[in-house]
Amino acid sequence: MKHVIETSRLYLRELNQADYSSLAAIVQDEQTMYAYEGPFSDAETQAWLDKNILRYKQDGFGLWAVILRESGAMIGMAGLTWQSIEQATVLEIGYLLNRRYWGMGFAIEAAKACKEYAFSVLEANEVYSIIRDTNIASMNVAIRNGMLVRGRFVKQYRGVSMPHLVFSAKRTT
Ligand SMILES: CC(C)(COP(=O)(O)OP(=O)(O)OC[C@H]1O[C@@H](n2cnc3c(N)ncnc32)[C@H](O)[C@@H]1OP(=O)(O)O)[C@@H](O)C(=O)NCCC(=O)NCCS
Repeated sequence: MKHVIETSRLYLRELNQADYSSLAAIVQDEQTMYAYEGPFSDAETQAWLDKNILRYKQDGFGLWAVILRESGAMIGMAGLTWQSIEQATVLEIGYLLNRRYWGMGFAIEAAKACKEYAFSVLEANEVYSIIRDTNIASMNVAIRNGMLVRGRFVKQYRGVSMPHLVFSAKRTT
């Protein structure tokens, strides 16, 4: 399968049905999913996979599988999606990693590569990360990715009102 993005330790490629169990190990883990109001059910996991496969067809991008080059293991998801902030639609960099691979710099390595892809391939002028106000690890990835806080809003997700911070980086060249 084609590598959409390559970095020194990782490559990103489209998700497919064979990734279900690697995906479930991430989105069905309670600790990983604390900012999403708890782990996904099997049905929510499949819907999430289907939604990203549809995004590849409709948008040409989505959240991709993050693969560790040295082992071939799928260690997470990272990529670009359209997201709503109140009335606006923005291009967002998202990332989730299997907990075994936290604290090794893989999220920032993937996030930086997604920012570069958004600016150079998609020719975006600005990219965002929309982060629940409790999610400090994710905010640190956004900060290391050269983003600043631009605002805050309350997002409704899984029936809960969640304050979020809006981070973004603007293209400079
Ligand atoms: C958000 C998330 C992906 C961040 O993962 P992470 O492992 O903290 O982030 P990174 O991979 O960038 O790792 C950064 C850490 O690795 C360290 N590190 C080790 N080797 C490194 C390297 N070669 N390069 C950079 N950092 C390195 C850094 O010092 C940093 O540690 P510190 O925070 O103690 O200073 C992870 O917490 C997660 O999956 N959370 C659940 C899903 C989620 O909430 N996603 C975001 C939704 S908005």
